[in-house]
Amino acid sequence: MFKVAVAGTGYVGLVAGATFAEKGHNVTCVDIDESKVELMKSGISPIYEDGLQELMQKNCAAGRIDYTTDYASAYKNADAIFIGVGTPEQPDGSANLSYIATVARQIAESVEKDCLVVVKSTVPVGTNDKVEQFIEDFLVNDVKVEVASNPEFLAQGSAVKDTLEAERIIIGTESEWAEELLMNIYEPFKLPIVSVSRRSAEMIKYASNDFLALKISYMNDIANLCELAGADVQDVARGMSFDARIGDKFLNAGIGYGGSCFPKDTKALEFLAKQKGYELKTVKAAIDVNNSQKTMLYKKASKRLITFSGLKVAVLGLTFKPGTDDLREAASLENVPLLLEKGADIFAYDPVGAENFKRVFPEGKSGNGHITYVSNPEQALDNANVCFIFTEWGEVKALIPQQYQELMRTPLVYDGRNIYAVEAMEEAGVEYHSIGRRPAE
Ligand code: UGA
Repeated sequence: MFKVAVAGTGYVGLVAGATFAEKGHNVTCVDIDESKVELMKSGISPIYEDGLQELMQKNCAAGRIDYTTDYASAYKNADAIFIGVGTPEQPDGSANLSYIATVARQIAESVEKDCLVVVKSTVPVGTNDKVEQFIEDFLVNDVKVEVASNPEFLAQGSAVKDTLEAERIIIGTESEWAEELLMNIYEPFKLPIVSVSRRSAEMIKYASNDFLALKISYMNDIANLCELAGADVQDVARGMSFDARIGDKFLNAGIGYGGSCFPKDTKALEFLAKQKGYELKTVKAAIDVNNSQKTMLYKKASKRLITFSGLKVAVLGLTFKPGTDDLREAASLENVPLLLEKGADIFAYDPVGAENFKRVFPEGKSGNGHITYVSNPEQALDNANVCFIFTEWGEVKALIPQQYQELMRTPLVYDGRNIYAVEAMEEAGVEYHSIGRRPAE
């Protein structure tokens, strides 16, 4: 078993740390945030992820995982240091690598034995060559430090499961020593490992995410055409999915992809292409379609209603997808301000994301409108003039068509997640607008 340090305790770092501990390694997670470290030491996960807290508590009790702000002590004797810090998007679409650089410098100044630095964060192709050089430039002791790429493929909401049951582990190394060490660290996971060069590993991450983003944007484009041509996008997707070359995943049309990954990684790859003098037309198209799709519900409702002023608007779901409290790039963040500007009286429900949303839109008067947060979907629907569904939470899906009809003042529903059968809503007397399933008005 290995002595492993993990830099950064966000989705990537903390899940990596907890799962390495679960597989028997000795893990120290490093974060600069003292209060976060204290929280984790007391067995509490700072992020909402199914099964993560249990894993942290179990492995803490077994003495296999610890948390610290003291990076030097965590790094000095580590066999491998995994970097899972953020690479946020900059205004021009490029990735901000300053957190990676800070950690790289701390590593260079702390390591006292040969060690492998493994970058899990998503970084532009070629970055890890530079990280290795950077560490070498600042290295204090006479030791060998190599850098490997090991991109992460977990999805928020299923991060622990995605890691323990990953479809593949990608390792990108430049020496046999690094390859063997990383293979050995992952050996207890008993999962397929694809070993490639460092740059190919970096590219696999972007190419995979951007392909999935493309798939979603393609289906959204087709959905919009389905509305114009009188076809049903769900039937179309079902028909397509029987072709194994297409597959049956990520064919759900809706209000576009959000989250911390697809929006950032599509823009980053487009930026890289531009830098290299190449135009990545497919990815650019995915971005364009997504930008326009995000406000599709608002655009549809604006055509149907002469005003939102004074209307009670139920908003069901705020997060970019169910199973997470993350709001990054969520469609709600674009539609809610438009509705508030037009004077809507919003009653918003989200089982876990409301607290985060409140920080952006505090309860009370906002713009020309007003926003109230409620603790169940029924309260949001009560006496509402119109309802928007932005996230397909189980609590929202549990509502039956009759409830919209009975609870709302006027049962007018805009569903960005195609939760209900069109016929069932119509039979219940609900005026139902969804994505790609009935002719555009
Ligand atoms: C995504 C990838 O799925 C992971 O494989 C990857 O590791 C991760 O990014 C990352 O790079 O860290 P995530 O952003 O957590 O994971 O969430 P997804 O479940 O992929 O959903 C992303 C967005 O696409 C959501 O807004 C979701 O509603 C939307 N989506 C997804 C659709 O609109 N249609 C679909 O068919 C699928």
